[in-house]
Parts: sequence; C-alpha cells; structure tokens
Amino acid sequence: MFRDLLLGPIVGGLDDNSAYLWGRTDHAATLHAWVGEEADLSGARLGGRSLPLTKGDGFAGVAPVAGLEPQTTYYYALTLDDTPPSPEDGPYPSFTTFPPSGQRESFSFSFGSCFRPTGPESGKTYASIDAHRVEHGLAFGLFLGDQIYADDYIKNGIERVAQTLEDYRAVYAHVWSHAHFRNLLMNLPAFMTLDDHEVEDDWTWTDSTRTEAKLPFWDKVIRRMHGRSPEEWHLPASRVQAALQAYWEHQGMHSPHFELPLNINTEGAYTFQESDPGSLAYTFEYGAAAFFVLDTRTMRVKGKDERTMLGKGQWAALKEWLIRVNDQYPVKFLVSSCSVLFDMWADVARDRWAGFPEEREHLLHFLAANEIKDLFILTGDLHSAHALQVDLFGPMGGSIPLWEFCATPFEQNQNWLAKRTYRKLTSDVVKSQDLRFLYLGNNFGVVDVDFNEDGNPKVTYTLHNETGAAVEREIVW
Ligand SMILES: [Fe+2]
Repeated sequence: MFRDLLLGPIVGGLDDNSAYLWGRTDHAATLHAWVGEEADLSGARLGGRSLPLTKGDGFAGVAPVAGLEPQTTYYYALTLDDTPPSPEDGPYPSFTTFPPSGQRESFSFSFGSCFRPTGPESGKTYASIDAHRVEHGLAFGLFLGDQIYADDYIKNGIERVAQTLEDYRAVYAHVWSHAHFRNLLMNLPAFMTLDDHEVEDDWTWTDSTRTEAKLPFWDKVIRRMHGRSPEEWHLPASRVQAALQAYWEHQGMHSPHFELPLNINTEGAYTFQESDPGSLAYTFEYGAAAFFVLDTRTMRVKGKDERTMLGKGQWAALKEWLIRVNDQYPVKFLVSSCSVLFDMWADVARDRWAGFPEEREHLLHFLAANEIKDLFILTGDLHSAHALQVDLFGPMGGSIPLWEFCATPFEQNQNWLAKRTYRKLTSDVVKSQDLRFLYLGNNFGVVDVDFNEDGNPKVTYTLHNETGAAVEREIVW
C-alpha cells in the first residue's frame, strides 16, 4: 500500500471536520485524497487534491480534506492520479475526526520525542504505540521534536552533518522510511514540532535579526577531533534556511495554521525572513481540551545583549491564548519541545528553559498572576522521562498546581545526568515542588483525559517502556 509514496502518508492538522493528508514522492505528481466510511473504500469520494508537488518543495505536499463529520471514522488513500482506490487493496488506514471544539469528551493521546534509529529494526517504541492505539484507542500522537538528527554524522544515513537542503531531505527520507515509524504515522493522526536536531545540536541565533547562527563550542571541538570537514564546524544562516525549508516540507505543512502566519512563496515553499516576527507555534483543540504547541527553536536568541526563547510575537500569542482558554476549557496543555520546570545542577548546555531564567520566571509569574488553572506542560528532549508537580502561589494564600509530563526518548541514549543532578528550580512564585517520578530508558507517554458525569476532568499520565508495558503513572483529579 502507498507504494507510490516515498514517505507518508501522515494525517495532519486534524480537527472536527477537516484534515491534511501528507505525502512525499520522488517525482512531480499531484496527491489525490480519497475518503470513505467503508474499510475497503468502496464508494469512496475524492476528498481533496494537493497543489502540484514540485522539485521546489521536495515533492512533498498535502491534500486538504474538508466537509467531514465530527467524531466519524474515515478510511483513506492517497493516490497520484484520479483512479479510485481498488477495494481489493483494502483494508485501508483510517482516522477519526475530533468532537466539536468545547464538547466534553473523554480521550487519550500519546506523546514523546527523539528518534535516532541505528538499524532497520529501529522504532520498536513506535510499534508499541501502535499496539496501544489498536487495543485502547488514541485520538492522536504528539511528536515533540528531534524527529530527525540532522547533525548525527554517524547515524543520520548520509554520513556527514547535513549541509544542504538535499542533505536534510535525505535525512528525513532515511529516518522516516523506517517501517515502524511509517506504519504508526499512517494510522495515528500527528501533531509535530521541532527541537534542535531538526537543524543542529543546541543551535541558536546570535541576535534577533536572525542573520547569524552559532553552535556550542563543544560540538566544534569534538568535530575537529573526529577529523570532520571544516564546513561541519559552522552553521551559516543559509543552512538554517535549508533545515527549516525541510522542516516545512515534512512537518510544518501538515500542521494546523500557525499563530503568526509564515511567508510562503508562489511555489508553496517556506520563505524565511530575518526580521519576520513569525514562529512555528500553533494551537488546536480536542473537544474541551486546548493545546498550544510552542516553537522553542526558530526564534531563540543567545547573544551578548539578547537572550530569548520565544521571541516577542510568540509571547503575545501565548499570553492571549492562556487568558482566552483559562475559563473556556477545563483542561489546557502547553507543549514545549524542551523542559520548562526540570533543573539540573550539571546543566552545561543551558539549552532548556532553565537556561533562560528570566523568561521562565516571566511565564510562571504570568500563570500565577492570572490564575491559570488545570494547565499541563508536555515536554521531551531530556532523554529521561518524568512527572513533576509545582504549586504556584495563588490568591488568598492558596495555590495553583502546575504539572509537567515529560516522555523521551522514543529511541536514543539515556541521560544519566538527569537522574544524578536533578535539583529543584528557584522561583519567587513557586510555593512547593515535587518530582513524582523519573525514568530512564526508551519510552512513550499516554495521557488519558476523562470527564466525569459533572463534566470535571481527571488527567492520567502513564509512561510506557519500549515494549509498551506501563512503568509509571500519575493521576490528577
Ligand atoms: Fe533528542
């Protein structure tokens, strides 16, 4: 099935009545999306067509499908011409549309980050997520970054640090063609964001004009010691543009609409502009649960005079969203590729929110001052999973609980430093904090949101190991 596609299909941007069906080919073509309620697609309708897939966008595209009914299961196929899919080739994969925004429906979703395959059998965690989906049901999966390791010249499939747009595309082709990944994504609607390795290890801009990027000094030292070529010691802005173009082609174009619209040129390619206030942040809802997916990377500046993770435009969008959803939605998820609340005394990289202390304090103050309730942070990146609860000072001596659920890696080395050097964060607005668990080993997270008869939510975070076994659980009423 889907032999015509080099990568995909992926079901992206799903809501209660539409979806983006994504695929990448190796030649000029047009995607045709077929949807129907029969598993063999008999009587399926042509639900949408992509723009022509061209060399300019790496032959990647989305076929938007609209006019769907809420909470309905649709089987689908992506073909390259207008010949309807054959019932003999079924059963086809499916997705189930979301409930209307605001409706209190119980649901589950998976999340996690960091996949660095080491062989053709890599991706066992993805197979376990798929088994969980079949047995218990998952509305969608969140993929929180490091969906590729473009800079890992040992294992990225191209044996050098990705330099050109073709290199970045080749790394996606290598990593995303792993059977377990492809099979899962065909069946589990996806929401993605990027972490550092979609571009480079712990990279940042040097100032907010975003004309100069830099790498940490230790990467330069290690690469010199390994005898890598001089071009691999540097990160010119043109390489960031290439990486973000490849990000757009594989992850961005099937996301829900960004909070701050991107510049897309007439060929459908992502045009990165230096002074652009835009970020890759977006929001979506599943019934009565609201999600804000942060872009912690493309606006990030670490310079002599400037230091920011989100940038001004994204801060404004985030604050507006927090105020808007606070009373309107009984459960809120703030999705950050890197940890907000987890501190380590041996954190040399200073690459997470702990490395941006003023900005983190600003966020915590904002949450406390505006009494943002029932907010759960979802994160990855650490290569170590945890559940952490803090109480912020609330009005009249009360407190406002805030949770951070971290699931990572899908498949990567473990981070022993997280376990050995964890320390409590310091903040004027944090009353108390409690690390509920910390787990090392490949894993994925599942969040169950259950509404009782009164419409009050219960949120359960279960961490599963690579084989799918539940290894940790936290229940929040
Ligand atoms: Fe990672």
